[in-house]
Amino acid sequence: MWFIENSKNPFIEFFLWFWYVLESLGRAFYRNIFPSSWQSKEELKGKRALVTGAGGAIGRALALRLAKHGCNLVLWDVIESANTETARLCSKFDIKVRHDCLDITDRKAVYSVANDIFENFGTIDLLINNAGILNPNGFLSTEDEKIDRLIEVNAKANFWTVKAFLPKMLEQSFGHLVAISSVAGIIGAPGLSDYTASKFALFGFMEALQHELAANGNTDIEFTTVCPIFIRTPMIDKLKIARQIPILDTEYVADRVIEAIQLRQRVLMVFNFIYH
Ligand SMILES: NC(=O)c1ccc[n+]([C@@H]2O[C@H](COP(=O)([O-])OP(=O)(O)OC[C@H]3O[C@@H](n4cnc5c(N)ncnc54)[C@H](O)[C@@H]3O)[C@@H](O)[C@H]2O)c1
Repeated sequence: MWFIENSKNPFIEFFLWFWYVLESLGRAFYRNIFPSSWQSKEELKGKRALVTGAGGAIGRALALRLAKHGCNLVLWDVIESANTETARLCSKFDIKVRHDCLDITDRKAVYSVANDIFENFGTIDLLINNAGILNPNGFLSTEDEKIDRLIEVNAKANFWTVKAFLPKMLEQSFGHLVAISSVAGIIGAPGLSDYTASKFALFGFMEALQHELAANGNTDIEFTTVCPIFIRTPMIDKLKIARQIPILDTEYVADRVIEAIQLRQRVLMVFNFIYH
């Protein structure tokens, strides 16, 4: 194995690997055996959270829940009016709210706004990479430019936001990265080939980055990757979905995501026809 071959002391490396496996199994056992109400939950009050795609359905529902918990918020969306409305709704709670109209595929803009956030708002403790788009017309009928754009938004933009905020999380030895992937991030969804590829990329990125940090001895940063099936939001308006497939409610998904964040759950699958 690579970490043993490259190690100066294979016994220590092997012990660390074994400990990591045991810890993962222990966590999985604990999560699945004990009801969530018995488990220790991360306190969100006073934390600083950034939500991308905050003007959209899930982004707004998440932002509102975080606001209720007392999180100070940074809201990003490329659609100014929708983002401003989310900010207005969140401002009703006793928290600080900042909102930026930003295209997260614009790497330079992401880094520059992030620096402004560090100066005028503080470090980000919880980054929720939620922004996403979907091409509804099938692979061969979709223009190349639209496929390119989808990969930029759903996959690559997550690299830039994480690069912008992870270093300060590592400095403060605390932080939580959350990505809204999809069931299409683990199973190929017919008619959604480019979307599936982008969500697999996001899922793989989160998993690999977590392993990369752990291999470097850093387990301070929490990771949560969310994989929901279809949710009743404008994103799926143009999709033809078989009637047998149940569609999730946005509020239900948002509640599950917040709970998964508080429980420091690494992967959250949200189906309803299997588990509910
Ligand atoms: N709706 C579903 O069925 C479903 C299922 C699984 C996963 N998801 C994922 O959940 C996330 C949220 O989806 P939603 O259903 O709320 O969709 P939505 O369209 O309501 O919200 C997406 C938001 O992302 C924003 N956005 C898009 N491109 C952006 C960019 N370049 N920069 C900044 N903001 C940008 C949009 O303006 C929009 O406000 C997406 O990542 C989506 O892939 C959705």
